[in-house]
Amino acid sequence: MIQEDEIKSKIDLDLWGRIFRYALSHKRLLIPLAASATVLAVIDTFFPIATKWAIDVIQGSGVIKDLIPVGVFYLSLSAGLAFCVFVFIHCAGGISHHIAHDIKRDCFKRLQELEFAFYDKQPTGWLISRLTADCDRLSRILAWGFLDVLWGCLYVLAMSVAMLLLNWKLALIVLATLPVLVALSLFFQRRMLFTSRQIRKHNARITASYGEGIAGVKTTKTLGREVENLGEFEGMSTDMYQASVRRAFLSAIYLPLVMLVGSLGSGLALWYGGVNLLQEAISLGTLVAFISYAGNLFQPINQIAMILAEIQGAQAAGERVMSLLATKPEIVDSPEVLEKIANHQALQSKQPIRRTLHSLAEAKQGQPNPLSPAPTLANDGHPNRIDEIQFKDVTFSYNQKETVLKNFNLRVKRGQTIALVGPSGGGKSTIVSLVSRFYEPTGGGVLIDGIDYRQRSLAWLQSQLGIVLQTPHLFNGTVLENIRYGRLDATPEEIREAANLVNAHDFVMNLEDGYDTVIGEGGARLSTGERQLISFARALLADPQIFIMDEATSSIDTETEKLIQDGMQRVFEGRISFVIAHRLSTIRSADQILVIKQGEIEEQGTHQELLARRGHYYELYTNQFRNEGVNRAMEAG
Ligand SMILES: Nc1ncnc2c1ncn2[C@@H]1O[C@H](COP(=O)(O)OP(=O)(O)OP(=O)(O)O)[C@@H](O)[C@H]1O
Ligand SMILES: [Mg+2]
Repeated sequence: MIQEDEIKSKIDLDLWGRIFRYALSHKRLLIPLAASATVLAVIDTFFPIATKWAIDVIQGSGVIKDLIPVGVFYLSLSAGLAFCVFVFIHCAGGISHHIAHDIKRDCFKRLQELEFAFYDKQPTGWLISRLTADCDRLSRILAWGFLDVLWGCLYVLAMSVAMLLLNWKLALIVLATLPVLVALSLFFQRRMLFTSRQIRKHNARITASYGEGIAGVKTTKTLGREVENLGEFEGMSTDMYQASVRRAFLSAIYLPLVMLVGSLGSGLALWYGGVNLLQEAISLGTLVAFISYAGNLFQPINQIAMILAEIQGAQAAGERVMSLLATKPEIVDSPEVLEKIANHQALQSKQPIRRTLHSLAEAKQGQPNPLSPAPTLANDGHPNRIDEIQFKDVTFSYNQKETVLKNFNLRVKRGQTIALVGPSGGGKSTIVSLVSRFYEPTGGGVLIDGIDYRQRSLAWLQSQLGIVLQTPHLFNGTVLENIRYGRLDATPEEIREAANLVNAHDFVMNLEDGYDTVIGEGGARLSTGERQLISFARALLADPQIFIMDEATSSIDTETEKLIQDGMQRVFEGRISFVIAHRLSTIRSADQILVIKQGEIEEQGTHQELLARRGHYYELYTNQFRNEGVNRAMEAG
């Protein structure tokens, strides 16, 4: 909840300084904006002077001709005003859009850089509201707030100078209201800040709850949790309502109070000025000018107070966005690796790392191993080719509380397929996440050809990965675009070839527009098996040295499973592959099958060896075989 000390917190100048840097990079718009604010403040100050001039002329000479210059002056002021308003709306609008774009781009970039562990901790609703609402809010405040504060300060200054020049005694009387205005504004501004923070907190919770409600709608419905969820939501919504009403109430008493003090200033001017006028110490024009200055004084003060309140209210938004931007990805290349990459770049003109899919097509026709040594170097100067991956005494935990892997040891050679089976929560996905360096071991190390992968380039390693997940993520677009995501420069022929290799080609050709079929958000218009085939083709297109399939075959029909199995045999050749499968029939031909239980290898061997052992694997396999047999019999019958 919101703490008392948060309300008292001053505007964090350092924070806003950092945010304001976004505006500074648009000087082309910022300078005209500042100029128009300055000129506007001066013009505003001159309007009462024009009135005074007119009245003095009327009272003095009374000649109409003498009014002409007054009219011209007034008209020029009006034209100047119109021009300034045009300039500032144009510039502030422009800056606001530019800043919003810049901040969103930086946030997006950072979100892409951050590792999986970051996403474990942040609800998606939180991230989405950061990227949209907060960035927009900051950009608006930066542009319009800058304009208002600059204009407000200069306007108060210019009016004070004008009044002091006209009649310093009268000026001091009118300016006496200034501290009262400022004090009132500061007092209310703090309270309004407090409530707006509450509103934003409630709002964020509501947004997150919407996100979860939509994403989890199927679960909610099947569990009959609608009523409880609605109850929770209503609670949040009531809190939000109460805070909003409080905020509206504060605004409702603040404005009239400030206006009252403003009118009091005018009253004082009228009284003291009236006495002076009667004693002929000042002209009627001067008195009128003073009355309008006194009446106008509250305007800029109110504007500045509003902006300050908004700045304080948006401070939380600013802190959130800036904290996101300040979150450094934890899994990054070390300085030594960066140096290696730089050295290698300097040494070598860019080398093509990927081999063409052409050789893969040859493999399909029984040609020699497509991944025969390609004597290229990775971007960090080490060999590009991966011959062995080794887990050496790897210990790992997601949080300090519970160890997921304990002293895990494993050696996988190029060309081998490792199958991981075992009970849920055993650590299978964790093992492949560690191979992928989405997380890093907390103890021990993962070695690539004897070198700890933390001494290798992260981008290089991840470019060598092909990953197919149980529920693969497809983007809204065509089949072709989705496969091409694996390698953006692939030609349509290469894409077809990849699809063909994983046995996806036939089903794609049966779609209404073939490869140009739009598959809907998340691939919603395809079955899970079809989505897997596409993501399989996508992974293959990148021609990775390491292939990972996480439970890719556990939820699909036997026919698609056969297609995938068939594709796997071909695709895994010459690579290092990790397959997690609940359907054990998929992994019979794996070189090594590991039964993973509570983060440790319980059994290890080939299918035949493990069956012969009559242990855990034998049990799993015979059970599944029996069930499948029953299912098949039922299907047939
Ligand atoms: N992102 C995470 N943050 C914290 N704990 C996690 C995270 N992912 C997994 N775990 C925990 O780590 C342990 C191993 O999980 P893992 O996903 O590796 O199991 P698995 O063998 O893949 O299970 P399944 O067969 O259900 O996919 C579990 O206890 C799980 O709760
Ligand atoms: Mg898993």
